[in-house]
Amino acid sequence: MITLKNISHHIDNQLILDNVNLTLPSEQVIALIGPNGAGKSTLFSVMSRLQTLQSGSVQFADHDISITDSNTLAKTVAILAQSNHLQGRLRVAELLMFGRYPYHQGRPTEIDNEKVAQVIEQFELQPLAQRYLSTLSGGQQQRVLIAMIVCQDTPYLLLDEPLNNLDMYHSGQLMRALRALAHEQKKTVVIVLHDINQAAQFADTVVMMKAGQVMKTGHPIEVLTEEAIEALYGVKATVIEHNGFPVIIDSRH
Ligand SMILES: Nc1ncnc2c1ncn2[C@@H]1O[C@H](COP(=O)(O)OP(=O)(O)OP(=O)(O)O)[C@@H](O)[C@H]1O
Ligand SMILES: [Mg+2]
Repeated sequence: MITLKNISHHIDNQLILDNVNLTLPSEQVIALIGPNGAGKSTLFSVMSRLQTLQSGSVQFADHDISITDSNTLAKTVAILAQSNHLQGRLRVAELLMFGRYPYHQGRPTEIDNEKVAQVIEQFELQPLAQRYLSTLSGGQQQRVLIAMIVCQDTPYLLLDEPLNNLDMYHSGQLMRALRALAHEQKKTVVIVLHDINQAAQFADTVVMMKAGQVMKTGHPIEVLTEEAIEALYGVKATVIEHNGFPVIIDSRH
């Protein structure tokens, strides 16, 4: 369980997060949605200690981030930031091994090799494993970065817009892989998504965020209503149901 209490955050006297209180269940895919500038990435960076927590508290199970040492935190929560730059003469397999750093501290063991091999297979990265990062396409880079996060093998994963640059095949593959991580490998996966139909189809819980505040939280079918989508994005939408999950269609003329 992730417990966020009374989180407020200012940047240059501007209130970016406005008293966020959330309890996120374990072993689920949780989609964080909301308009540009809502505070989603800021919330992730505060949760993962990339930015200092100014007020309130963040707890991953019984780890309070304000008193957890860095190595324990690195084995507890992994984050994919919204924008990343992959440079340097590093091969894909080497980057994935870097995701294991909290465990091997520079000296990989057989366990680390096995984990990397398993993730390469799971994410169908065999054809890319020996390629240099600088030679990869945008979508390939994104897939490799996500695989590195998965190699970190933490109980909590925070992924900020992981579907960026991914085609239809790889988007669906990733969402299914994240579901399997949550439901079979007991991970808690929080993802920022702009494609609300991906949230509708694959998330167990949807958190709607607007202007630094949490607007609504619940199962996709409960929260992704026409009224809530209009309140969240200012978009008139039609919501239909397909195979038990909502499908959202932008119905503006
Ligand atoms: N370093 C900064 N200086 C000033 N304002 C900032 C800074 N970082 C973020 N902000 C502001 O904080 C607000 C929240 O930004 P954040 O990146 O958290 O939004 P977001 O919900 O992730 O949006 P998006 O969907 O566009 O990624 C925005 O208004 C943004 O302009
Ligand atoms: Mg963002």
